[in-house]
Amino acid sequence: MTSQADSPELKVLIFAASMRRNSLNKKLARLAAEVAGQQEATVDLATMDEFDVPSYDGDVEEESGIPDGAHKLRDRLLDNDAFILVSPEYNGSMPGTVKNLIDWTSRFRPQPFDEQHGLLMSASPSMAGGNRGLWALRIPLEHLGARIFPKMFSLAQAHKAFDADRIANEGLQERFEHNVEQFLALAEAAKHYPCIRKEWVEFLGEPPGEGADRVDPPVS
Ligand SMILES: Cc1cc2nc3c(=O)[nH]c(=O)nc-3n(C[C@H](O)[C@H](O)[C@H](O)COP(=O)(O)O)c2cc1C
Repeated sequence: MTSQADSPELKVLIFAASMRRNSLNKKLARLAAEVAGQQEATVDLATMDEFDVPSYDGDVEEESGIPDGAHKLRDRLLDNDAFILVSPEYNGSMPGTVKNLIDWTSRFRPQPFDEQHGLLMSASPSMAGGNRGLWALRIPLEHLGARIFPKMFSLAQAHKAFDADRIANEGLQERFEHNVEQFLALAEAAKHYPCIRKEWVEFLGEPPGEGADRVDPPVS
């Protein structure tokens, strides 16, 4: 896999963590893709079904290796400079499907979330827009060394919030666009100006070996 550091344009993977045909989160992901395209980013719009994986089982991993869906996510993460994950909230947290996918994908070495810039967004019919699910998602992603953008966007009452393919409320649409643009600006700066990387707390990893087979070995 070639590094994207030499490529001049910014490439961003965007996907919604819902399989549902009429998913509100897929709709928001498509809107994020449109805004990113207007910012001249190259958009790689994916769907969760492309990353379908069985429930994590250490025995299956040992016998059959990491499943195709996680290979695909790993490849798409490495082929892009940043990712936008638009996720529903289930029972005050992230959907089990997306946590399971993160768990499988975290088994690669090198571990592919490390140093990836990520933006989290959600849509829900509720008044909080699924925002708690994003705080939950932040934990495993940051644990894996992803640089999750501080600002997140949650679209409340999402079943009534869209006007065709835009957010009907102009102020909210502007806030959404601004969030995507700010994130892309940081990801672009991190790609082209490596000194900005020093601004982030580095992922320390853990010593490898029996009983600690979880994360990357420390950088020497
Ligand atoms: C198992 C389950 C749990 C849910 N829990 C929450 C919740 O905690 N908070 C919330 O805002 N919505 C919750 N919802 C409603 C989802 O936000 C809603 O179904 C949403 O449309 C799902 O996203 P999608 O449209 O992208 O598929 C839940 C839905 C399901 C199926």
